[in-house]
Amino acid sequence: MNDTIILAIESSCDETACSVVKNGNEVLSNIVNSQIDFHKQYGGVIPESASRMHVENISKVIDAAINNADVSYDDLDAIAYTQGPGLIGSLHIGVVAAKTLAWTLNLPIIPVNHIYGHIMANQIDSEKLLYPLLALVVSGGHSELIYFKNENTYEILGKTTDDAVGEAFDKVGRIMDIPYPGGVEIDKLSKFGKPVYEMSEPKAEGEYNFSFSGLKSSVLQLVARENKAGREINNANLAASFQHVAINQLIRVSEELINKLEIKQFVLAGGVAANSRLRSEITRLSQTYSDIKFSFPQMKYCADNAAMIGAAAYPLFLANKFGTLKDGANPSHKKLM
Ligand code: KG4
Ligand code: ZN
Repeated sequence: MNDTIILAIESSCDETACSVVKNGNEVLSNIVNSQIDFHKQYGGVIPESASRMHVENISKVIDAAINNADVSYDDLDAIAYTQGPGLIGSLHIGVVAAKTLAWTLNLPIIPVNHIYGHIMANQIDSEKLLYPLLALVVSGGHSELIYFKNENTYEILGKTTDDAVGEAFDKVGRIMDIPYPGGVEIDKLSKFGKPVYEMSEPKAEGEYNFSFSGLKSSVLQLVARENKAGREINNANLAASFQHVAINQLIRVSEELINKLEIKQFVLAGGVAANSRLRSEITRLSQTYSDIKFSFPQMKYCADNAAMIGAAAYPLFLANKFGTLKDGANPSHKKLM
C-alpha cells in the first residue's frame, strides 16, 4: 500500500500547531507554538488574545512543519484540522487555514474531533490500538471514561459531574498562588512533598462518574483554616495531598470499569495524561492486569499538538470520512469520529 502523508492543524485553545504525519503513526514533523507564557500573566487563557496570536503564527507553523518534515506540498495526501471542541475564535483560525490549503492544493479535507485526537496519540510510534478499549480522557475541559467496542462504536460510561480534572488542578493552582497552568506546577511541587493534609475523595452521583469541585473546596477551606490559625502552609505537601486524592479517584473509577468490562487495551489521553502520579498508577495497574495492554502517550503528545490530529485523521482517511469546504468550527463538538 502507498504511504499516506497528512498535514494536520491544531488550534483549539492556546497552542498553534502543525504536523506532518505518515500512515497515522510516524511523525515527520511536530511544530507547537505555545502561548502559555502570554496567558500565564493573567492566570488563564484570554480567548481574544489567543485568536489573535493564532492569526499571527498559523502560517509560520505550517511552513515550519513542511520544512522540518522535509516534504513538499505536492507530497501531501490530505489536510486535517481540529474542528472542536475548543474556543470558537481559536478553532476558526485552524479551520480557515486548513480549508485554504485543501482548496489551493486540491486535496481532501478531514475534520477531526480534538478528544479523538488525544486518544489516537497513543498510536504514534506504536502498534494499532486493540479493541475493545477503554480510554480515560483527562484534560482541561474533559474527564471521561469512553468504552470503544470496536474502532467505530463507542459509549461514554463516565464523566465529571462538575469540574474537569485539569480545570480542578488549575483552580487549585490559583488558590495556591502558583503559576498557570496549575496542573504542571502541582505535579512538579508534589515531588517535594507528602500527602499529609487530609482530604476526602468526593463521591460523584452516578456509578462511573467523577467529581472534583468538592476537592477544590477542601483545598480552599484548608488554606483559610491554616491562615486563620497562623500556621504556615507547606505548598509541596498541599500539592501532593490534592494530587493524591484527585488521581486516586481517576484510578478507582477506571479500575471498577476495567473489572467490569472485557477490554484488550486501556489508554490515557489528554493534557493530564502527563501527570507523573497518574502515569505511575497506570503502570501499577498494568502489573495487576497483565492480560490488558495499558498505554499513555509520549510526554510530547500529551498536551495539545497537531501530531495527534494527524494520527486520528488517518483511520478517517482510510474510511473516506472527508469533510467539505462548507464545514466550520464546532466549539462543542460531541461526535468523536
Ligand atoms: O489537553 P490539554 O493540553 O488541553 C485541553 O484540551 O484542555 O490539557 C490541559 C490541562 C490543563 O488543565 C493542565 O493543567 C493539565 O492539562 N496538565 C496537567 C499536567 N500537565 C498538564 N495536570 C496535571 N499534571 C500534569 N503534569
Ligand atoms: Zn487537549
